[in-house]
Amino acid sequence: MTGSLEMDRPDDRNRLDAMAQGVIGKPLDRPDGPAKVTGSARYAAEYAVENCAEGVLVTATISKGQVVAIDEASVRDMPGVIAVISDERMVARPAQGGAGESPVRNVRQVEYWGQPIALVVAETFEQARNASKQLRIEYRSDDDAAIDQHSRDVPIETHGEPTIQGNLDKAISQAAYAVEVTYTTECHNSAPMEPHASIAQWDGTTLTVHSSLQMLKYNVKELADAVGLDPEDVRLLSPYVGGGFGSKLGISPEGVAASIAAMELGRAVRVVLLRQQVFQCVMRRSETTQRLRLAADSDGRLVGFGHEALVSNLPGETFAEPVTQASDFLYPGENRTLRIDLARLNLVTAGSVRAPGEAVGMQALEGAMDELAMKIGIDPVELRLRNIPERHPAKDIPYSSRKLAECLKAGAERFGWHGARRSPCHTREGEWWIGTGMATAARVHNLNEAEARVTLYPDGTAAVASDMTDIGTGTYTVLGQIAAEMLGLDRNDVLVRLGDSSFPPGAGSGGSWGAPSTGSAVFLACEAIRTRLAARLGCQEEELTLQDGFATVRGQTTALSDVLKGDQIEEVGHFKAGEISDKFSAAMYGAFFTEVAVNAYTGEARVRRFTGAFGFGRVLNAKTATSQCMGGMVWGIGSALTEEEIFDKRYGHVVNPDLAEYHVPVNLDVPHLDVVLVDERDPAASPLQAKGVGELGICGAAGAIGNAIHDACGVRLRSFPFTPDKIM
Ligand code: MOS
Repeated sequence: MTGSLEMDRPDDRNRLDAMAQGVIGKPLDRPDGPAKVTGSARYAAEYAVENCAEGVLVTATISKGQVVAIDEASVRDMPGVIAVISDERMVARPAQGGAGESPVRNVRQVEYWGQPIALVVAETFEQARNASKQLRIEYRSDDDAAIDQHSRDVPIETHGEPTIQGNLDKAISQAAYAVEVTYTTECHNSAPMEPHASIAQWDGTTLTVHSSLQMLKYNVKELADAVGLDPEDVRLLSPYVGGGFGSKLGISPEGVAASIAAMELGRAVRVVLLRQQVFQCVMRRSETTQRLRLAADSDGRLVGFGHEALVSNLPGETFAEPVTQASDFLYPGENRTLRIDLARLNLVTAGSVRAPGEAVGMQALEGAMDELAMKIGIDPVELRLRNIPERHPAKDIPYSSRKLAECLKAGAERFGWHGARRSPCHTREGEWWIGTGMATAARVHNLNEAEARVTLYPDGTAAVASDMTDIGTGTYTVLGQIAAEMLGLDRNDVLVRLGDSSFPPGAGSGGSWGAPSTGSAVFLACEAIRTRLAARLGCQEEELTLQDGFATVRGQTTALSDVLKGDQIEEVGHFKAGEISDKFSAAMYGAFFTEVAVNAYTGEARVRRFTGAFGFGRVLNAKTATSQCMGGMVWGIGSALTEEEIFDKRYGHVVNPDLAEYHVPVNLDVPHLDVVLVDERDPAASPLQAKGVGELGICGAAGAIGNAIHDACGVRLRSFPFTPDKIM
């Protein structure tokens, strides 16, 4: 079937490799690159809209309680002030995205410090910001805010169904080798370069919003619901997005506030979150406490596997950081316990931050695996190789293509891994201890329903359109490559248009599913176009060779423009993951190898070399894929050494709400990153045989760095990030 596919079995046809253009997988530059580096690519706040008023959000300065009064008179006469908006449609929390659930309302009931409670609108940004600081708010503060995961009165519930098989306690007590350890990670912030921003325009019928969002098809519904409109009357535009990392999966308060203000005031309103507000009122990754219990037999094979985590979120939120997501399928162990507990805290909403689950779950698990390897006295790579299960340990289903062993071997070889058992403190250079460490990478393969429209024009050029976003990931590039490959066109002859909710609904950018899902929709649309071209040429679609704008059938070559004879052909591809997701355990895999220097006097850790080998199905573009892997590894360096969003334990505010105090790695923190792409086709993953790569590079990366710190100086740290004070 062409045009539409509900995938319920592997697609072995390997179609893209059979195409003639030879453009798929090539490390082509981004078509959007020049616009981005010259500043002509416009981001949400950068549109020149006539008579646009400026809004600044006012956020709560208590952690729990009521807003009793907002004294509008306190700012009404200030220069430029137009209005103070604080009605029941304003949202107190961001939407989580994906489900299309509307975000939580009732801004007058404060549930965390930093919660939006009002919007001050003025003629200029400076006037609005000034007035927002002067606005007098009266609160009634409750004194029972829950801020610390570990304080005694915090309500804790078990999230979802725990996995319990066999008897882990017994397996641990009888094992030849056992490790029982607790790792912790602190809250993280997505900290996208472009703060959340919206310009809302209302013409009396349609609400048009330039915004910085990841998943427009859900965001339209969320925004419509929040402001009380039909989704058909809302149009969102996000052609360029300066990073999202989960924080723009759902709409956030600034977009709702701008929309309400625009509708009330009858003029355009722009709201840009202050950097501090990005930290205080958008989204955090939950802190985690992870208990890991590993039991191995005398050959180093896992017979018991336990991963139990405590995470947190606001009361009423359904999301819990899925810490054990990779633990579900990665390693064997017939005695298993996987479990997630959720503490209810009065801290900003916890939600998806790049690679929710695996990012923090894998860094802890891979630390524990290193501890097990030390205990057994075998090479940690060898421990991983001995623990690649035949079938999914809990569901008893097969794996789809899985290149874990290949990644471990390719990465070890590229890095020059020592491959032996050794004890820490073996190498010293001046005041630096030098060590190496490794870890496995794993991330579940997700798919999402997607549509894309492809048009082949009479002149032999083509256009792709979808409401899909490019959040810096390379979506424009790879979707163009897929169409060019399928239609036999130069990549420059394919125009890709994204980020407009009036286009067919793509998968959105989330869960690493953007390229495999929306890419499959483009692929299916192109297959349908090929079928129509074949009909014109009197052949089967499979007999058709398209290359460089020419169609060849049984040795006969015709220019595409002659086949089209002035017509254009347009098809919408519709892709959906069907039963395939239940039939195979599909995931992306990899391995990290790193060399770290630890200063003997200051405890400073520096990553000196970092290699990652990754297998994630077909590579759609070797350059953009490599960049995704590098970006993940940079996050790994941050997670290992510096990143922690710190909340004041008394009042609940973010202590370090900006990029000066929340330390993401900078150039000097990052060595040359060496990425090896392991060749793979996964027929069960998508008709492209491609999986996702956006999040894989972070999953386990910090664990490798921690293991290298231990190898360098003998200090085994379990509380991320591994700052100098902990190392000393
Ligand atoms: Mo991702 S954290 O699903 O944008």
